[in-house]
Amino acid sequence: MAENQPWTRFAPERRNILRMFHAAQEASVDSSSLSPDALIGIAKYLNLPVAEVNGVASFYQTFARLPRGRHVIRICDSLSCRISGSLGVYHAIRNTLGIGRDETTADGEFTLEIVNCLGSCDTAPNVMIDDTLFTHVKPEDMAEVLAGVVARKENVS
Ligand code: FES
Repeated sequence: MAENQPWTRFAPERRNILRMFHAAQEASVDSSSLSPDALIGIAKYLNLPVAEVNGVASFYQTFARLPRGRHVIRICDSLSCRISGSLGVYHAIRNTLGIGRDETTADGEFTLEIVNCLGSCDTAPNVMIDDTLFTHVKPEDMAEVLAGVVARKENVS
């Protein structure tokens, strides 16, 4: 067993599994996804079935299986957002970027994810892009919001 893997900083106890996931994700090539090799390594380290470790990881939206783009768009599709129009927002983003759920644009700029409640149900529908929450979003505004995200990045770099 490789001793220098990021998850071996923690004692091989089940209660440390989320810390191990975070460490593995942070150490990944793109710092944003848990690779199959990491999941297998953690499973071996904890002496647990890979399926069980994979099941725990898939429960948490924080841990992605595939590399993500530079910006992660999270559309809430829980009840308040769904009845307030999240599906229309999803289609607007899909039409603008040409990607669907769990896909990343060819230029690596955006990844689109569908998530559960973002904790701001009274401002539905909500979309989170990176660490910014966009509230009361309308499908017709999404192209401008996405352009703003790219422009902000260009102004920073
Ligand atoms: S239902 Fe969307 S933020 Fe709660």
